[in-house]
Amino acid sequence: MATTQRPRPGPLPSLFRNLPPRPLRLRHLLALLLILGLAPGTRAAPPPAAAIASAHPEATRAGHATLAAGGNAFDAAVAVSAALAVVEPYGSGLGGGGFWLLHRAADGHEVMVDGRERAPLAAHRDMYLDAAGEPIPGRSITGPLAAGIPGTPAALVHLATHYGRLPLAQSLAPAIRLARAGVAVDATYVRLAGFRRDALRAGASLFLDAGAVPEPGWSLRQPELAATLERLAEAGHDGFYRGPVARALVAGVRAAGGLWSDEDLAGYRVVERAPVRGRVGRLAYTAAALPSSGGIVLAQILNILAEDRLDRLAEADRDHLLVEAMRRAYRDRADHLGDPDFVPVPVARLLSRDYAAGLRAGIHPQRATPSAWLPGVADTPTGADTTHFSILDRDGNRVAATMSLNYPFGSGFVPPGTGVLLNDEMDDFSLRPGVPNVYGLVGNAANAIAPGKRMLSSMTPAFFDDGDRVAILGTPGGSRIITMVLLAALEFRRGSDAATLVGLPRFHHQYLPDRIEFEPAAWNEARVQPLQQRGHEVVRAERTWGNMQAVIWDRTRGRVEAASDPRGGGLAEVR
Ligand code: DON
Repeated sequence: MATTQRPRPGPLPSLFRNLPPRPLRLRHLLALLLILGLAPGTRAAPPPAAAIASAHPEATRAGHATLAAGGNAFDAAVAVSAALAVVEPYGSGLGGGGFWLLHRAADGHEVMVDGRERAPLAAHRDMYLDAAGEPIPGRSITGPLAAGIPGTPAALVHLATHYGRLPLAQSLAPAIRLARAGVAVDATYVRLAGFRRDALRAGASLFLDAGAVPEPGWSLRQPELAATLERLAEAGHDGFYRGPVARALVAGVRAAGGLWSDEDLAGYRVVERAPVRGRVGRLAYTAAALPSSGGIVLAQILNILAEDRLDRLAEADRDHLLVEAMRRAYRDRADHLGDPDFVPVPVARLLSRDYAAGLRAGIHPQRATPSAWLPGVADTPTGADTTHFSILDRDGNRVAATMSLNYPFGSGFVPPGTGVLLNDEMDDFSLRPGVPNVYGLVGNAANAIAPGKRMLSSMTPAFFDDGDRVAILGTPGGSRIITMVLLAALEFRRGSDAATLVGLPRFHHQYLPDRIEFEPAAWNEARVQPLQQRGHEVVRAERTWGNMQAVIWDRTRGRVEAASDPRGGGLAEVR
């Protein structure tokens, strides 16, 4: 049952529920073991090792160094986030935002630190439309007008101040070193820099080698970013949002035609939000809350399928059901979801099992429901980069964090003197309610632009717990993030290991466009045909998608494992 209020599912009730009323002595013995912290799955039996999976080896190492220096998972999250900002500039950074999902072992406290970007105060609903009401190509993608007010620096300060054990400066030190010393760029960097070459030439030439796309191995040095990080380390929140860094950011944005003001930066705050939590059978989940759509859409799909024994179904029946559940949950996403501080969102209804049962009843077992037959609305935004990491420390603290600049290299704009590459997250708003934008994407009023509003996201950092094992995972991938996390959750429930979860072949449906997409090597004809016979349009995508990072702690067996998506160049390490 999906709800944000449910008590945290733990091993204790099921342990006792399965016991016969007698002999009482066994109950007493178990109770004693639990009190002494010897029973499996209790907080008092900590993991035998720490684990970090991230999208870049330098970031994983920065996190482990922080743990080795006495930091906890939250300090390590600061170190990994900051290192990724330096070594993976196309994915995330100080100029972007994200969601950090936390689990504190000492008291089971779970929270989502919302460091999502906000629209500048001077933003308005039609700011990306021309006089005829048509979206202006590229304007929400490239240059300073595309950038929301960054949340990542505020989130890092918040994590260090409220959850970490080490001074912020210590956790930021590895990133500062990497920015100053330089890092050799890899093939992914080269591909994405090629993809955004023109934008980078215009606004962020430091990412190019004398104006050209660099070769792999070229050393990316970012002394100005190092100085900005140092300022953050010295002065905390105000080191970025007030004073010289803030002034340089605002001046640079305005000089290049953007709308930022001093108040935008001075007024930025992270928000602590209750994650979406629920349970289907043995699988308990904790996932990103609004303004990410991830937890709600994930919960809705799991609820629609709650009564189905997926493992017992024929493959085509299972695929069909999953796709129909995805279609319905993504329709509701497009219709209802937006920043809850700005628009009323019927969260209780969307998470209700009864509502899900109604949606399940509308699924024909043998026929695809054309999306056009469902109440109409919108499509969801997608993107081409972002990043995720997962951390477990030896105390059992957990962090799942997904961070973004939106498109590769964000807006491609660095305000002079700051080294901070700005996001183009404004494109995650619906540019014009109800009408597809130039990229074929549609949204509606719930996610329309308004001053200070957070744009709807699909980022879904999540924890799953099957009673014995805990999984910490997430991935980039725009609108496909949620279905990737869903497929991984279902596979986790079957007992699979971390490598299987991140390597899983992927397929996706998001209501509109009305088609199933699958990764090039994921499905063969035999898998496609039965779905086509049911009326589905099935499309082989040109590329794979996602870069999932997963950590699994098996509390019963006392084992920790981690895996990094074979599609990316990340590193997962258990130490
Ligand atoms: O917040 C979101 O949903 C998007 N900005 C994420 C973009 C993304 O994952 C692109 N990655 N491939």
